[in-house]
Amino acid sequence: MQLQYQSALAASDEVLVCPVIFSKKKPEISKYPKALQDLIKDLLKDKHLEPKEGSMFSMPLSIAKFPKHIILVSLGEVDKLNADKVRNSIASGTKAVRGLKKKTMTLLYPEELNKFARVIGEVVVMANHFVGRYKTGKALEEGKKQVIQTLTVVTSAKGAIDTEIKKGFSVGDVVNATRDLINDPPNLLSAKVLAEVGKKVAKDNGYKYTIFEKKDLQKMKMGALLAVNAASTKPEDDARLVVLEYMPNKNEKPIAFVGKGIIFDTGGYDLKPSRHMADMQQDMSGAAVVFGIFSLLKKLGIKRNVVGVAAITANLVGPNAYKSTEIVTSYSGKTIEITNTDAEGRVVLSDALSYAVKKYSPKQIVDIATLTGAVCVALGDRYAGIMGTDKKGIQLIRKAGRRTDDLVWPLPIHPDYEAKMKSKIADLRNSEDGYYAGSQKGGAFLKNFVEKTPWIHLDIAGTAFTSEPKKYESVMGTGFGVRLLTNYLENL
Ligand code: BES
Ligand code: MN
Ligand code: ZN
Repeated sequence: MQLQYQSALAASDEVLVCPVIFSKKKPEISKYPKALQDLIKDLLKDKHLEPKEGSMFSMPLSIAKFPKHIILVSLGEVDKLNADKVRNSIASGTKAVRGLKKKTMTLLYPEELNKFARVIGEVVVMANHFVGRYKTGKALEEGKKQVIQTLTVVTSAKGAIDTEIKKGFSVGDVVNATRDLINDPPNLLSAKVLAEVGKKVAKDNGYKYTIFEKKDLQKMKMGALLAVNAASTKPEDDARLVVLEYMPNKNEKPIAFVGKGIIFDTGGYDLKPSRHMADMQQDMSGAAVVFGIFSLLKKLGIKRNVVGVAAITANLVGPNAYKSTEIVTSYSGKTIEITNTDAEGRVVLSDALSYAVKKYSPKQIVDIATLTGAVCVALGDRYAGIMGTDKKGIQLIRKAGRRTDDLVWPLPIHPDYEAKMKSKIADLRNSEDGYYAGSQKGGAFLKNFVEKTPWIHLDIAGTAFTSEPKKYESVMGTGFGVRLLTNYLENL
């Protein structure tokens, strides 16, 4: 998205988004051009626009020296203004501009919004995301016509907002790229291609990186990750473990982000019914989020030591697929009895978590995974589940959630759930028969692989992918977690 500034409205502006902020139900518009003030008062009188936030009115204009079209969005009362309201109203305005198929969106920028410049930059880009990349012909053309190219900000306070809007653009771009990655199906996004995304992020930013390939994983005895990978027959779908390192500080233990990168989850021999398999290209969202975080560390000036680990494979069926009753030896040495091939996420994560602990002795581990259908039942698509051993970290991530609207909600891991994940014949089993507390039992399993490291598990199975997007989202991949975890790091 291009960014430009104007000190006043111009006749050349195609479409104007005009925020209206209220104080005791009266619009605070004294700094707006006189003709606009009159228009807003008339619209309020006729109740086309209302003081309640979210109210919106779109109309063509024929006023001299004014844009040809205006979209008014109410932001509600000034003393109740917050990031969520800004996000929702500016996203609605942006989507309305897209509906008009205009290339440039002009935003009248009242100074009350100066402190939300970052959020506005983010949301304009996120609401401009185009999901239909693989359409062709006319449908593709029509879709592309609805993508805004330039944001023109009308303000006299460029200096106060420019840097923050640009940071917001960077965040929005990365969220959109993460969404595209999540939406890519496994024939287009093989394990190899996903690993190469991690490599590109590292190269673009000058981070150290390692891609462990199948033969490396065999040497390292990553038996858990390799078990899930056993059914994959194409070389490009051999398992990979991608490790990224950003270590700007000397003598500081890193924070480790560990992502589940299942490029497609059929369930394995414990095959998913079709309605549950339908969207399983999303099952690499955790890995995509880890790459998203790394895309932003330098751009946002985050000066923390951070490592990223992504465990990448598909979970398929076939003559070599792993089966229930198999006992696999994980990288940690602990043995896992496979009791359900569809509980593959925790299996691949076990090796990735152990690797992070062993190699880096991190001061904290955050894993992010589309781990359980149970979290969708419990929390839907508006809250991710958060659990783990690091109480303080959980509180800080909850706060980051409230700031970013990437909301998380705590779920308790009872010691009895941990006991349930023990196997009779091996150290652990990857599922148990019960129907209750499925997400926490997933967490209870993972806990065995972090040793004493303060650990947080984010189950994003409900939030990574949606059919009922928020105002600033598209259908399918949401990019949930990128803003949450970068915001967490920025506020440490
Ligand atoms: N990838 C799924 C979880 C999932 C469900 C992600 C819905 C996104 C949306 C995971 O691998 C899985 O299949 N989990 C099983 C675990 C069970 C067998 C213990 C589940 O939730 O049914
Ligand atoms: Mn599964
Ligand atoms: Zn899965």
